[in-house]
Amino acid sequence: MGRDDDLAAIEDALKRYHGRAAITGIRGVGKTVLAVAYAAKHRLDYRATWWLRAETADGMRADLVALGQRLGWVGDGDTQDAALAKVADRLRREGEGILLIFDNAVDADSIRPFLPLDSAAHVLITTNAHHLADVAEPMEIRLWPRDIGAAFLLARVGTADRAAAESLADTLDGLPLARII
Ligand SMILES: Nc1ncnc2c1ncn2[C@@H]1O[C@H](COP(=O)(O)OP(=O)(O)OP(=O)(O)O)[C@@H](O)[C@H]1O
Ligand SMILES: [Mg+2]
Repeated sequence: MGRDDDLAAIEDALKRYHGRAAITGIRGVGKTVLAVAYAAKHRLDYRATWWLRAETADGMRADLVALGQRLGWVGDGDTQDAALAKVADRLRREGEGILLIFDNAVDADSIRPFLPLDSAAHVLITTNAHHLADVAEPMEIRLWPRDIGAAFLLARVGTADRAAAESLADTLDGLPLARII
């Protein structure tokens, strides 16, 4: 909702920096939803789209191995290290048409060892970090303006009280979700 320009910006960003773009922005602003929307919109442009839990090295290792298994690149008997090496090699040689989404990356250093840096694969990263500039083209998404925030609340809550929805959207600063502590 309200992210057509951001979707177009991802398409541009992927063209600018070796096919790697990072969606940045504050917690809860809609980065993961936007990555999902990009993947859905472009599902026919890729032969494989793969989700990686990028908060931890273990998550990225497991999800890269799972990609290799799914594409038949690794065997059942491979150790995790052997499987990761095979996946890296295949991505280097056959990365064209593959989209990897690294969701919730902590920072550039933590994901760099797992990125296919010399590959034609596209990489889309979501992160709360500000600086991923040396691994991907950063693209910051902003809080919703009042009208989109209100439209989201009206659609979700099913009320017709636009004035109340706008007031609440202001109170929530344009965030889709908020928690009162
Ligand atoms: N463009 C959108 N249209 C409709 N709903 C949205 C949109 N963006 C976000 N939301 C709603 O807000 C919630 C939070 O969005 P999301 O999980 O994408 O945030 P995030 O920036 O990835 O957060 P985090 O930093 O915690 O990972 C979603 O589960 C969804 O309900
Ligand atoms: Mg997220």
